[in-house]
Amino acid sequence: MNLSEARTALQKARRVAVLTGAGVSAESGIPTFRDAQTGHWARFRPEDLASPEAYRRDPETVWQWYAGRYADVTRAQPNEAHRLLARLERAKGEGFFLATQNVDGLHQRAGSQRLVELHGNLTHARCETCGTVAPLPAPDDFTPPPICPVCAARMRPHIVWFGEYLPERALEAATRAFQEADVALIVGTSAVVYPAAGLAFETLRKGGVVIEVNPEETDLTPYMSFGVRDVASRGLAALHI
Ligand code: APR
Repeated sequence: MNLSEARTALQKARRVAVLTGAGVSAESGIPTFRDAQTGHWARFRPEDLASPEAYRRDPETVWQWYAGRYADVTRAQPNEAHRLLARLERAKGEGFFLATQNVDGLHQRAGSQRLVELHGNLTHARCETCGTVAPLPAPDDFTPPPICPVCAARMRPHIVWFGEYLPERALEAATRAFQEADVALIVGTSAVVYPAAGLAFETLRKGGVVIEVNPEETDLTPYMSFGVRDVASRGLAALHI
């Protein structure tokens, strides 16, 4: 498939499923999980900051890490790639579905509505006792840990940590959408973290077209119908979204 055929397939598609990763937010200046580990945080391994064990051992440090990333995300703005995906949603209506691995909430701020967050959201906390999910106070007013507005217990970051299951209904909805998709877009993800990375195969198995947008090749590249080797904003624009 060439670029012009990829554009036509996307234009004609009644059902479109999109998977996004950290690359989509790179142009908003949001560092990827690993890139965020600079300075003070460089001495931690990812699993020392983003696992249930780490939180049990040292909730204060884990909360400090998330509070800092939350503050960064609040200052950032959605970029053209987020906006183009919101535009594609408006064009496709009910035939559109977005599954993101990002936890920054920028897709929503750009206007996306038909989306699931497979790995949670940095801007929210979840009660460790009753499960209530609530937005965090503005970064300047926030001293972690947050306290549950319903039962006053301590809340944890609303993030899927290493070794934890993805939210079941979100994953089911994403799997269905990728199975039904005429065209799937895999944008800005290294596609190494499963089960999210496996969604592309749901579309391929059903005979759908899968297009990757990423400046680099990934483990999925050999299976793709077409690849746009560019940053997310230009790559999506090249598809005439
Ligand atoms: N536009 C598009 N893609 C980009 C850009 C850009 N401007 N900049 C970088 N990329 C690509 C990189 O080439 C890479 O393939 O984005 C990808 C980012 O990969 P990761 O950092 O591994 O991010 P992601 O795929 O979202 O990671 C999946 O792993 O860290 C955990 O739970 C975390 O959700 C995350 C999951």
